[in-house]
Amino acid sequence: MEISENVKKLIQTQITKEYASSLMYTGFANWCEIKALKGFGTFFKKHAEEELMHAQKFITYLNDRGKFYPPATIEPPFTGFAGKGCVDFVIASLNQEQEVTKSIYEIYKAAESDGDYMSKEFLAWFVNEQKEEENVFGDLLA
Ligand code: FEO
Repeated sequence: MEISENVKKLIQTQITKEYASSLMYTGFANWCEIKALKGFGTFFKKHAEEELMHAQKFITYLNDRGKFYPPATIEPPFTGFAGKGCVDFVIASLNQEQEVTKSIYEIYKAAESDGDYMSKEFLAWFVNEQKEEENVFGDLLA
């Protein structure tokens, strides 16, 4: 059965968001490294890599369903590093993850309402992943 057109488009948009998250975390990692905050640098670098894995996971899914992800322009969700530090980065990270959770929910709801149960099953992994991601950053601010 064909993937729902709406779900396909939302996943394509989501892939670009995952790359944008990766770019944001890469910026945080680099800033921390040059400020001799190596531990935070490693933390954010690992997270940047995870976002690339998420993007690839979505791309592989679309490929499996015979659909293409046309590379898109990526806008970093965080700019303006002057005067900012780790706490600002963690707050921005939590905000970003909460936005990503909303967009994953949106795709999940579209899959459900279009009767695209293959996509719904696939997306369940991301729903769980978002719980972990929000907790990682939320716990740092607790
Ligand atoms: Fe891919 Fe951190 O959400």
